[in-house]
Amino acid sequence: MSASGYLAPNQIYQGDARALLAQLRPESVSLSFWSPPYFVGKSYETELDFPTWSELLRQTIDGHFVVIAPGGFLAVNIADILAFEDPDMPRIQADNVSAKKVKITREQVLAAQQANPGFDKYRLAALLGCSEQTIDRRLKNNNVRGGKYTPQTRVQLTAGLVEQWASEAGFYLYDRRIWVKDPCWENSRWHSLSYRAVDEFEHILIFWKPGITVVNRERLDAGEWAEWGSRAVWNIPSVRSNSDHESQFPLELPRRMVKLLTEADDLVLDCFVGSGTTALAAIEQGRQFLGFDLSPNSVKLATRRTAEAFAASQLLLL
Ligand SMILES: C[S@@+](CC[C@H](N)C(=O)[O-])C[C@H]1O[C@@H](n2cnc3c(N)ncnc32)[C@H](O)[C@@H]1O
Repeated sequence: MSASGYLAPNQIYQGDARALLAQLRPESVSLSFWSPPYFVGKSYETELDFPTWSELLRQTIDGHFVVIAPGGFLAVNIADILAFEDPDMPRIQADNVSAKKVKITREQVLAAQQANPGFDKYRLAALLGCSEQTIDRRLKNNNVRGGKYTPQTRVQLTAGLVEQWASEAGFYLYDRRIWVKDPCWENSRWHSLSYRAVDEFEHILIFWKPGITVVNRERLDAGEWAEWGSRAVWNIPSVRSNSDHESQFPLELPRRMVKLLTEADDLVLDCFVGSGTTALAAIEQGRQFLGFDLSPNSVKLATRRTAEAFAASQLLLL
């Protein structure tokens, strides 16, 4: 907290994004770029049901209108929800004629597990002559397509919801880009035995707050304009799931947003800052930063990474 009573820039704060936004100096943020919880079952979103998730996003977007500078931007990176549980959806038979019927029952798996307490799913699969996915399905009912005991799943598009909440808050949709990451084979069990595609792209929705926006095309060089500045589709490999944080941005993603939409010394906010990647891009590009996160572990990680990046940037100036 600064002497003015508002949150001081160049720090990471722990707390709910909505409460912290209310403590920011009005009209101080040139760009807010973030990726919220996606409602896809990550560990930091297990408490959320869909109405609570929707309210979190709607209220967070609404809380931005006061803090974004006139002519500034709010940019949201979000994916569609590919396996959205819908109890009202009629059951898909998924009668796959090319698939062999697996006869192993849950009781057989439980009996094998009891007889061999140390066995993991791979050894149980070898013992019973089936795949480890069958073992998983029998033990956890985790067939994400919706199985015999779980609701069916469908796709829920998110960009339209975010657009509606942003326009209700007073923003205008200025631009949209598609981030093509690498195919998420590990998370794609939901598409096996179906006609569905694997998950390999996300949306970036860029909203504008009415006010004077200076368009400075000098921020990017000719090569950058040709390669990505004027391009709607951005190919940037994602960060593989790692022990630091479950869903890190690749640095190149916030780097492009910061370079394109802000000037030196502008304030860049990420109110779901996670491991701090947006703040790192801001430091690298000579901008000020602010980060919020509910999780104390994320705050610790982002604080450490930003302190290291800031120290490195000071060394470069010497
Ligand atoms: C998709 S991750 C962001 C990852 C980040 N872009 C990075 O590069 O590491 C979403 C983050 O939002 C945080 N979060 C969830 N609910 C929150 C809330 N109500 N307020 C602030 N942060 C929240 C989670 O702890 C998680 O770190």
